[in-house]
Amino acid sequence: MAKTATADYRFYNHSPEVDDFCREVIDGFRQNQRCIPPKYFYDEEGARLFEAICQQPEYYPTRTELSLLEKHAEDIRSHVGDGCYLVEPGSGSCEKVRLLLDTLRPEVYAPLDISCEQLKSAAAAVAADYPWLDVHAVCTDITSEVSLDFIPDETTPVMFYPGSSIGNFDPDDAVEFLACLAQLTGSGGGLLIGVDRKKDHETLHKAYNDAGGVTAAFNLNLLQRANRELDADFNLDAFEHFAAYNSVAGRIEMHLISTRKQTVHIDGQGFEFNTGDSIHTENSYKYTDSEFQEIAQQAGFTLCDTWTDSDGLFSLFFLRVK
Ligand code: AVI
Repeated sequence: MAKTATADYRFYNHSPEVDDFCREVIDGFRQNQRCIPPKYFYDEEGARLFEAICQQPEYYPTRTELSLLEKHAEDIRSHVGDGCYLVEPGSGSCEKVRLLLDTLRPEVYAPLDISCEQLKSAAAAVAADYPWLDVHAVCTDITSEVSLDFIPDETTPVMFYPGSSIGNFDPDDAVEFLACLAQLTGSGGGLLIGVDRKKDHETLHKAYNDAGGVTAAFNLNLLQRANRELDADFNLDAFEHFAAYNSVAGRIEMHLISTRKQTVHIDGQGFEFNTGDSIHTENSYKYTDSEFQEIAQQAGFTLCDTWTDSDGLFSLFFLRVK
């Protein structure tokens, strides 16, 4: 892992290769249901659009989770203890953690993210605003093997995984991912995680079909990214955003739907689309508290505490590795 020391924070570059994107898109396009893994949403523009989604009035998860973090920071501290190593996989803008830093006073904060540019600027801003804090930023794909060799062996870090990003894994993969976090922290390590709850379908539908069209732009940006990075020729006017709740699977599904018969080329290979053919771009699972607890338990965690807003939209869990 290449390491660069800056004045304010440490940066470790372990970012995925462009080749991975090409291979995963072409593999995904060879399946019956074409798909692109959602981790590729987050190039610079995608990361910016995601921050804009979080500001949309229909997208309730961000503001609900922020108010839970604010309200329960002291309770969270009672579980975390003093001077912890706080690790945030998929840290994005690092905004949510700011609600905890003054209360938790961790010794180290380690944001991990696939979006390098956003990670650098967010880590620099945290380091500038919290000069007492040691910040180690790691640019990495958190769904692949992550090594955190700056954490001493005898330390059991606390993981912070907000935003209900766990919902973007299929349930079996969620168990596997949480088990990896459990392995990274070791026995006794903590996990503070945000989970979006099952709720009425209209609220869910609106959250992924905002009137401002920001989620649509975020979804379509995947094609723009492929055009830029993979020498692809997607016509962005010939695909449209689609998001709907699948109540059998308990998830929002996002797709890009071809609005006409067309051929798209990616890295020299042609792919035919008929009108209505789709590219599946994301699942966002919603859980009851007991469904999520079952997943956490299978991954090796026990429940210490849970907090839910009064409208029952979103839950925060504090878990510990058995
Ligand atoms: C990052 N993740 C938890 C978001 C979600 O709600 O599943 C991504 C997102 N996709 C569309 N809107 C937001």
